[in-house]
Amino acid sequence: MYSSLLTFCYLIASVTFIVGLKMLSHPATARKGNLVAAVGMTLAVLGTIFLYEKDGQPLGNYGWIFAGIAFGTILGTVSAKKVKMTAMPEMVSLFNGMGGACAALISLVEFDHLMHMHPLLILAISTDAGGVASLQGFLVIIVLGLIIGSISFAGSVIAWGKLNGSIKDFSFPGQHIFNLLVLAVIIGLATYLIAYLPANPHWFFYGIFGLSILYGLFFVFPIGGADMPVVISLLNSFTGVAAACGGFLYDNKVMLTGGILVGAAGTLLTILMCKAMNRSLANVLIGSFGGGAKAAATAGAQGAYKEITLSDTAVLMSYANKVYIVPGYGLAVAQAQHTCHELEKLLESKGVEVNYAIHPVAGRMPGHMNVLLAEADVPYDKLKEMEQANDEFATTDVVLVLGANDVVNPAAKTDTASPIYGMPILDVELSKHVIVNKRSMKPGYAGIENDLFFRPKTSMLFGDAKKVLQDLIAEIKSL
Ligand code: TAP
Repeated sequence: MYSSLLTFCYLIASVTFIVGLKMLSHPATARKGNLVAAVGMTLAVLGTIFLYEKDGQPLGNYGWIFAGIAFGTILGTVSAKKVKMTAMPEMVSLFNGMGGACAALISLVEFDHLMHMHPLLILAISTDAGGVASLQGFLVIIVLGLIIGSISFAGSVIAWGKLNGSIKDFSFPGQHIFNLLVLAVIIGLATYLIAYLPANPHWFFYGIFGLSILYGLFFVFPIGGADMPVVISLLNSFTGVAAACGGFLYDNKVMLTGGILVGAAGTLLTILMCKAMNRSLANVLIGSFGGGAKAAATAGAQGAYKEITLSDTAVLMSYANKVYIVPGYGLAVAQAQHTCHELEKLLESKGVEVNYAIHPVAGRMPGHMNVLLAEADVPYDKLKEMEQANDEFATTDVVLVLGANDVVNPAAKTDTASPIYGMPILDVELSKHVIVNKRSMKPGYAGIENDLFFRPKTSMLFGDAKKVLQDLIAEIKSL
């Protein structure tokens, strides 16, 4: 009776997912886009709870359902409110893992349902060719959801642990071969289970489950820290595909749409991130970025660097025509985005043109710098993408590097032995002066020396980004 209304709810929810996703592609509309999609998801969930009927019976179990929703809502809200901006990638990873776990649980439950069908019914299905095909089709979806969801869950938990420092990189000789073997066994068992419907399917099914969890763990363990965002995005797309399997299973259009959108968006983001680092996905997955980085980190400093005083920096920036600010992870750590915006406005009031050069992997998550600066109300048109900024550095008087390191490291262009070799960087050296603010000479995320700090055009301005910017503002005002 309510099925048409439910279909209508699903239709609206699917449209809100697509519109919301589209709005997420620009910082100005991203917040609203998130809300639009969340409203659609609420509609889909409530519609399912109150309008779904099977054989004329409503869903029931409302106590369990709302207890679960209340628990998840409280946990999600509290952790999302408490999380620091810099810890966002690990939270995304954990939430993604929960999505994978849900998809795997759906498969476990539905397999159990299938096994508890009346034996005569199974016999009837399996003695008729059409029935066998539909049973096999059903099993394909259940097994796919199980494999992909379990890998995504186990991999995301390891990624979460590695990002918050509780799990260290771990690898052993021949690990990639071992991983490939485990994957081959998973595929072999799944094919046998589906094609031959063996007498004792439980062994096959739970074997596939265990091996998929094992594969998820060992797949992420050896991947270097700096490659983690790519892996998280890849696991995110896995979760989307696993959720889409659930949509097939339940013939639920909105689950299918949502899953496909997450799967496609995750895949595109993975490709774009690899492109931004000039690396192939295979290289990210089997290359050891982290290992190479550690080796390079032990190399000593090259030559001497020079420091600049606050007053010299103030003079240089105040009398410049064009200034570029390069924000990096350190700006987020110092929470200096508001002070940075203040400096930008002060310089502009003095007639200086100020823009921001945004590297696609600056910070610790895709779009990190955009979000950070948007928080401080920096106008979007001041954020220049890497290619555009690189074209403009030659006509720039001063580049102020604020807590960025790897994204301005020339080794990416010149040192074939460097773990970041091939990653496009911001060519800040093309400008007249480069001022680098950081607290020490310590390396950045990739753990490698930065030759830029020792080059003739570069001057170091040491200190916490927020404190330095506050003092710089005071100095410029006193000029
Ligand atoms: P990093 O290379 O990590 O360098 C950040 C620098 O900020 C450090 O050298 C640090 O030096 C300085 N710093 C830290 N706290 C500071 C503070 N309070 N005040 C001033 N400086 C401070 O950052 P990046 O240039 O943004 O590059 C990002 C790196 O992270 C890349 O290697 C990228 O591949 C990787 N990564 C990116 C993502 C995404 S998708 N964005 C995710 C994970 C990893 P001191 O300690 O000397 O101050």
